[in-house]
Amino acid sequence: MLRNTTDRFGLITRALHWGIAGLIVVQLPLGLRLSDMQPGLANLWLYSAHKTLGLSIFALVALRIVWHIISPPPAPMGGGWQARMAKAVHWAIYGMMVAIPLSGWVASSATGIDILLFDRIPVPAIAPVSAQWEATAFAIHDIATKLLMALLAIHIGAAFKREIDGDGTLTRMLRGHR
Ligand code: HEM
Ligand code: HEM
Repeated sequence: MLRNTTDRFGLITRALHWGIAGLIVVQLPLGLRLSDMQPGLANLWLYSAHKTLGLSIFALVALRIVWHIISPPPAPMGGGWQARMAKAVHWAIYGMMVAIPLSGWVASSATGIDILLFDRIPVPAIAPVSAQWEATAFAIHDIATKLLMALLAIHIGAAFKREIDGDGTLTRMLRGHR
């Protein structure tokens, strides 16, 4: 089953969830390494890799949002405050998954350095070359990534808690159903 139903996660949503999760788990530490580095010729490829991966994640997130408009995912199980909380955390994670690549793209554009997807496809700049834009957008990128890490800690902790409590929340995101 490709589509979601009122109580099942379809294959497309599950593939997007675990695919994007895997890429973000690589991208976060890569970004943290970059922020400790002095950009130079030797490590420029790492910056390029981070930009390519980040923009690819952004494209997948856009697809995921479009797919969820076409085929809405099931509501969190159980109802009550935990389900409301789960929903709020999911929305907040989506907010960060848009804000982070967008701010990275704006900040990188503002440096005036060309962005090349996979080292060959030129990506248009979306901000003027400006030290002010660069500093502000990188500050947003930094804060939003820290917020995402905190949200993911809650998200992953809650997923395991629900599974241990026996409601099958994690099983449903793995298999589609409980
Ligand atoms: C989901 C996507 C992304 C994630 C999770 C992510 C994550 C991070 C993290 C955690 C940092 C370190 C922040 C800090 O401690 O200051 C960082 C830095 C950076 N990011 Fe991203 N990023 C993403 C997308 C992008 C995109 C799309 C671009 C550019 C097109 C980009 C460009 C950069 C650059 C240039 C730095 C280094 C900033 C510095 O020198 O301090 N990122 N990223
Ligand atoms: C970067 C990592 C992750 C991100 C960005 C993320 C994001 C999301 C989002 C937005 C949803 C809401 C459903 C949807 O829109 O597709 C969701 C659901 C879910 N996630 Fe994650 N997730 C990540 C990692 C994980 C991990 C590592 C686990 C397990 C340990 C996990 C377990 C779940 C479960 C069980 C659900 C379904 C919750 C329910 O039934 O209401 N996620 N995730």
